[in-house]
Amino acid sequence: MVNRFGYFDDVQREYVVTRPDTPLPWLNYLGQDDLFGLCTNTAGGYTFWRDAKLRRLTRYRYNNVPLDTGGRYLYVHDAGSVWNPGWKPVKARLDHYECRVGLGYTRITGAKDGLEVEQLMFIPPNEDVELWKVTVRNTSGERKQPRLYSFVEFAFYDALNDMTNYQRTYSIGEVVVEGSAIHHVTEFRERRDHSTMFACTAPVSGFDTSRDAFVGVHEGLHEARVPFAGGATGSIAHGWNPIGAHEVTLDLAPAERCELAFVLAFVQHGAAKFTATGSFDTSQGRAILERWSAPGVVDTAFAALASSWDRLLGGVQVTCPDEHLGRMVNTWNQYQCMATFNLSRSASMFETGIGRGMGFRDSNQDLLGFVHMVPSRARRRLLDLAATQLSDGTCFHQYQPLTKQGNADVGGDFYDDHLWLVLATCAYVKETADLGVLDAPCGYADRTYTDDGERESLLHHLETSLAYTMANRGPHGLPLIGHADWNDCLNLNCFSTEPNESFQTAGDVVGSQAESVMIGGLFLAAANEMGALYDHLERPDDAARIRRWRAEILAAVETHGWDGEWWLRAYDAESRPVGSSRNEEGQIFVESQAWCALGGAGTDGRARQALDAVEAQLTTPNGIVLQQPAYTRYHLELGEITSYPPGVKENAGIFCHSNTWIHLAWCRAGDGDRALAGYLSICPSAKQDQIETYRCEPYVYAQAIAGPDSPTSGEAKNSWLTGTAAWTFVVATQGILGVQPDHAGLRIDPCIPPSWPGFTIHRRFRGVDYEIEVRNPDGVAHGIRSLTVDGSRIDGNLVAAPPNSTHVRVEAVLGR
Ligand code: GLC
Ligand code: GLC
Repeated sequence: MVNRFGYFDDVQREYVVTRPDTPLPWLNYLGQDDLFGLCTNTAGGYTFWRDAKLRRLTRYRYNNVPLDTGGRYLYVHDAGSVWNPGWKPVKARLDHYECRVGLGYTRITGAKDGLEVEQLMFIPPNEDVELWKVTVRNTSGERKQPRLYSFVEFAFYDALNDMTNYQRTYSIGEVVVEGSAIHHVTEFRERRDHSTMFACTAPVSGFDTSRDAFVGVHEGLHEARVPFAGGATGSIAHGWNPIGAHEVTLDLAPAERCELAFVLAFVQHGAAKFTATGSFDTSQGRAILERWSAPGVVDTAFAALASSWDRLLGGVQVTCPDEHLGRMVNTWNQYQCMATFNLSRSASMFETGIGRGMGFRDSNQDLLGFVHMVPSRARRRLLDLAATQLSDGTCFHQYQPLTKQGNADVGGDFYDDHLWLVLATCAYVKETADLGVLDAPCGYADRTYTDDGERESLLHHLETSLAYTMANRGPHGLPLIGHADWNDCLNLNCFSTEPNESFQTAGDVVGSQAESVMIGGLFLAAANEMGALYDHLERPDDAARIRRWRAEILAAVETHGWDGEWWLRAYDAESRPVGSSRNEEGQIFVESQAWCALGGAGTDGRARQALDAVEAQLTTPNGIVLQQPAYTRYHLELGEITSYPPGVKENAGIFCHSNTWIHLAWCRAGDGDRALAGYLSICPSAKQDQIETYRCEPYVYAQAIAGPDSPTSGEAKNSWLTGTAAWTFVVATQGILGVQPDHAGLRIDPCIPPSWPGFTIHRRFRGVDYEIEVRNPDGVAHGIRSLTVDGSRIDGNLVAAPPNSTHVRVEAVLGR
């Protein structure tokens, strides 16, 4: 389906943007290991190594005017006319523009007056270089001698300092130029052992490294002096703002084309920083440039990127009657899960990379959509996360990816955090059968250890997590909420009257009484997982103990968590109900309905009744709003949630992440029509005909869509880095398609619309390829009638891992 701005090319696994003036900048990510780039459809964005706050290589000014300004710019100077293939910043009228958003690359092509320039930007797997392969074609009937100018602005690594501390940064900038290699060496003399190199594989006719010389002081990037004048100045930056700019002069006969590449490298020098004479050692950079200048290497690296994505996505591939679900599962949803796993909530068009780093609850949830792709990286992440837990069970709410140290400004005391570690660990173990991870040493962030042997194991952390919730309950026996639970904005201990403080950290949680029904439901789910894990480990006493704990919380939830027609959301600091028909605003919330169902509360029919209440009161064509009625005034006792205008974000916005849990609950309830309808209501691929209202990228999920209470209803915000990515992948693959990793094998339990005749899915699981065919002759939603594994009928719905084959054929027939 085509909209005014582009279309999906499913065969190439690309989204093709056909005009540059999209409703918002549409973003893609480059890199998936250590080096990362943000790249918009007009080549905007920046590059960083591991940590967008502490190792930023190039500059980007967020929320600029125009919104997306600064990036990987190429200026073309052709017979006096100046333009960019990505349209920005000059915004000359192009004869042709196209941006192909691909898996780990963005390919922008612009053409004007018989000259076509293609800029393919990517970071090859396991390399610390970003490459821009540039192809220039003379499509005119005449000889052309265009000049190309590359342009990046260097950042001084610490992004916050770079944007704030000009009394220092204006004086420290230094570069070294050798041939086409522009080395950004600011702070190298002192403590850094790394530098940034921007170089070109073709001979250059000039360069600039001073922004004042290349752009000017009073000029904007759209009127930068050098490309308009048509002559580089050879400037060397001393302080102020170092940049990297090359001039390449071409000579193209009619129909002739040429290829070259720009290389942006993060160079790690280690201890050998200087030459024998004490100057900056350019040899590492020279070797990098030589390597990428050899014929064919850039293309080989691009092919390696493509095959790495073939492998990554190849673990789950589906053929099903719904085009959106198929497209998202096979390509874009998995792709987004890689980004959320890598970047948590750190760097996007809405997160500046200097804020949150890795979120504890966020990263645990992101892992759910990623673990099947690269289990070894998921394992590492689990151990890193566990190491930011404190010995009492609470967790640093965020940590910095470079240092892996908890963020002390935000601290802990969000009393859901630790429970997500249980869900993530169990998901990892079910995927991999790696029980050894439970014994892996982690240790607590508030203890010191002299060697690894002293560190408490991951299993110890899981026990500490569940025990923490058991020991920290309020007057109704429900879990205390702390600063907030999953809903960061439901701050029941905050009581802030001071605009200069953070809702998340203000307020004292010590001695607080405020309780969360959602954490109650989450605990039930975590305890189910833990009980099953102990069963699998054949530790019946531990399993029984966990189930006793679960029974206690279940009793509290079922006795004190029910409002009459749905689950309450919480009790506030004075033990008054929140999310109750007795409240004037905010009578019903989605999170507790979802988690009580997923945790197995209300099996007497109340779980179903609560889902029906969600359907009747919260469900809209664009998704499920977080609560109703929206808060119209600030409630001191509820905190940030009531600070937002009605209909946005946590105040009755469609917070997509929370929708996915209801979709999963519909799957558990066996209602495939509702599950798929819910799935599609927030699916970006299904927003093509309303893209001008929706505005965000049509290929990835956004955190929130404005709800009906907002004048901007239907508008999405905060795309890319959201827990929606991982959870919706769980909904689609484990809920709707029903392929569920379990300790003893792969469980097959789909929940589909009865109108579906069936589907097939390929699933790689513990190194074995499963070809699963599901048929639905009776037109049911749910329930396996027969299951055949490699031609033999089996009972139940669990396909046990085969003893010695690498390919397994599964045929499932649904029916009564
Ligand atoms: C944001 C946060 C996440 C939180 C959610 C709801 O997505 O990253 O941690 O759970 O908002 O408030
Ligand atoms: C704000 C946002 C919320 C996010 C939180 C993180 O409160 O509304 O979505 O989780 O910031 O600190």
